[in-house]
Amino acid sequence: MTAQHSEHDVPHHEGHSFGIDVGGSGIKGAEVDLATGEFVGDRLKIATPKPATPQAVAEVISHIVSEKGWDGPVGITMPSVVKNQVIRSAANIDKSWIGIDAQELFGAYLDAPFTVLNDADAAGLAEVAYGDDIARTGPVIFLTLGTGIGSAFLLDGQLFPNTEIGHLIVGEKEAEQQASSAVKDREELKTKQWAKRVNRVLHDYEALFNPSAFIIGGGISRKFDKWGEYLSIDTPVVAAQLRNRAGIVGAAMAAKEGIRP
Ligand code: BGC
Repeated sequence: MTAQHSEHDVPHHEGHSFGIDVGGSGIKGAEVDLATGEFVGDRLKIATPKPATPQAVAEVISHIVSEKGWDGPVGITMPSVVKNQVIRSAANIDKSWIGIDAQELFGAYLDAPFTVLNDADAAGLAEVAYGDDIARTGPVIFLTLGTGIGSAFLLDGQLFPNTEIGHLIVGEKEAEQQASSAVKDREELKTKQWAKRVNRVLHDYEALFNPSAFIIGGGISRKFDKWGEYLSIDTPVVAAQLRNRAGIVGAAMAAKEGIRP
């Protein structure tokens, strides 16, 4: 909201919402048309401040919202467990986030109501709403392969939040320490080598949770054609439909629907 206008004379668009995705390298925000799941105008991306302390991130978020001229509800994803709007884990962000009450923190920077949720949960919700039927059918595990491995457990499109199976030990190490796309880059793994690691992780997930399908999101899902062929588990594995848009779109949905994990 700007100083010249009140919420009443500049209403935000009825069917639109606003999502912000807080990631390790960038904080991205966009207005979303909820009828289509498409962005309205450009997405604004700002480098994640270093260190990414709660205050520094909150400042960037409020900057994105005002820069975009948005005055309605906002959804914010975090790469963390979010329970009752309190940040409960910080695997790939500044440790000072643990125990932060997100409503208290961001409330000091934002004028409209907002909700905070896990990034993979948000992306999973977006896939349910705008992706393939597979995401809405039966028990499905949605995974994001990025800096870490995020997970969203879905049952007929309903979310069981904060599942965090990227931290499950597979073999000797946490799944995300061997098969995230950041690990692929860091260890300079060949696609096939890395895909085999993903396969091993999925194999364990399959044995424990027996979903009817895995849906893979995150930037690397764009190249699924190149590595999906190396997967040999029995459960169908498909690439997410929403790709990099998913976090922002899911956050915007959560804001509109008042989902508050
Ligand atoms: C975090 C999850 C997050 C995932 C993807 C993991 O390290 O623990 O909360 O969803 O990374 O960002």
